[in-house]
Amino acid sequence: MHGRRNHGTDPSRDVRFRGGARRGAASVGHHSREISVPEQPAPLPSLLDGAAASVEPVSRESEAFRRIAADPSLDLVLRLEAYEDIIASEVGDTRLVRARNIERDAAIRQLFLKFEGGNPTGTQKDRIAFAQVHDALRRGYDAVTLASCGNYGTAVAFACSLAGMQCVVHIPSSYHTRRLEEIISLGAKIIRTPVDYEGAVDASKQQAEQQGLYDANPGGANTVLQLVAYGEIANEIYDELRDAPAVVAAPVSNGTTIAGIWRGFATLHRRGKTSRMPRIVAGSSHGKNPIVRSFLKGFDECRDLDPAGLKETQVNEPLINWHSFDGDWALQAIRATDGWADNASDRELRQHARILREKEGLSVLPASTAGLSVLLERHRQSPLPGDRYVAVLTGRR
Ligand SMILES: Cc1ncc(COP(=O)(O)O)c(C=O)c1O
Repeated sequence: MHGRRNHGTDPSRDVRFRGGARRGAASVGHHSREISVPEQPAPLPSLLDGAAASVEPVSRESEAFRRIAADPSLDLVLRLEAYEDIIASEVGDTRLVRARNIERDAAIRQLFLKFEGGNPTGTQKDRIAFAQVHDALRRGYDAVTLASCGNYGTAVAFACSLAGMQCVVHIPSSYHTRRLEEIISLGAKIIRTPVDYEGAVDASKQQAEQQGLYDANPGGANTVLQLVAYGEIANEIYDELRDAPAVVAAPVSNGTTIAGIWRGFATLHRRGKTSRMPRIVAGSSHGKNPIVRSFLKGFDECRDLDPAGLKETQVNEPLINWHSFDGDWALQAIRATDGWADNASDRELRQHARILREKEGLSVLPASTAGLSVLLERHRQSPLPGDRYVAVLTGRR
C-alpha cells in the first residue's frame, strides 16, 4: 500500500468556490465553501513529459452543448443530456490504423495501431475524465479533485471546464510536465507539493474527504466506472475488426487502461461477439513499474516497488510509480489471457516514437509506445504466429 506522508500542502491561498460541497437531488442550495489552494507554481519548467501541448477546441455543436451543461441554473437532466452529447461527439472513436510499413520491417502479420492521441487532450485519459465528471455532475458535486503527472490532470480539467465544474489537480513538485499551463488555462487550480505521485494521490483523497470534493483518483470507489470507460477501447477495436485480435498491447502505470480493455473484451466474448479473448500485453518503464516487475517475478499479487529506486525522466514520467493502484486487476488481465508484461527503456520508447513518425506518419508521446515496444521485442526474440495484433498508442506528442 502507498504510505502516508507529510504532504506539506501550503494553505497560504484560499480560493472560494461557489456552491455546496454536493448538491443532491433535492439541492442543498448554495453554501459558500473554502478550498485551500497554495500559490500557483513559480516559473514553468521547460521539460516535456506530457502529450500535445494544446487541447483541441470542441466543435461548434459541442460548444452549444457546453453552454447548457455548464449552466448550474438549468435542470440537471438537461445538463446531463447535453454533457452526454459532448462525450459522444468529442471523446473516443479514435482511429485504428494498419501499420503496413512496420509490418514489413518487423515481419509481423497485421499490426494495427489504436491511436488514443485522437482524444481532445491527446491521451486515453479523456475517456475516464469525462466518465467521472459526468458521474460528479449527476451526483450533485460542483468540484473534482485528483492527482496527476500531467496528462490526466489536463483531461479532467478539460472535462470539468465543459461541465461548469471546479477542478483541483495535485501534481508532485518534482514533475516536469508542460501541461501545467494548459491545466491553468482550463480554469483548474493546481497544488504542487514535494511528494511523489502516490503522496499526491493521498493529498487529493484527503482534500476530497475533508472538503467534500468528488474524488477522481484511481483505486477508489470509481474503479468500475473507469474500467467501463476504458472498455470502450475494446468495443471500438471490435467494431473495426469484427473479432478480437490475438494480442492487445498497451503501456501501464496504474494498470487501469489494460484492466479496462480486458474487461471490455471479456464482456464481448461472454456475449458471443468475439471468438476468443486477446492476450493482454503490458509495457512500462524499465524496472519502474510494479505490474511489470510482479509479472516477471511470478508474484501472485501486485507488489509495491521501493520508492527510493524510482527516478523520473522526461520520457518515463507518465509510466513510473511504486504503487500501481489497479495493479491487481492488471496482473489478472495479463495472467488470465496468457499475456505478458515487460520493460522498455527510455531509448526504446524514443526509438519507437521515431519509427512511428518516420514509417507511419504518427506523432506520438514516447511513453505511449511501451506496449508496442514490448510486443515487437517479443516478436524479434521469438516470432509470433501470423495473426492480428493491436498496439494501443496512448498519447500524441
Ligand atoms: C500517456 C499515458 N499512457 C499510459 C498511461 C498508463 O495508464 P494506466 O495508469 O491506466 O495504466 C498513462 C498514465 O498516466 C499515460 O499518461
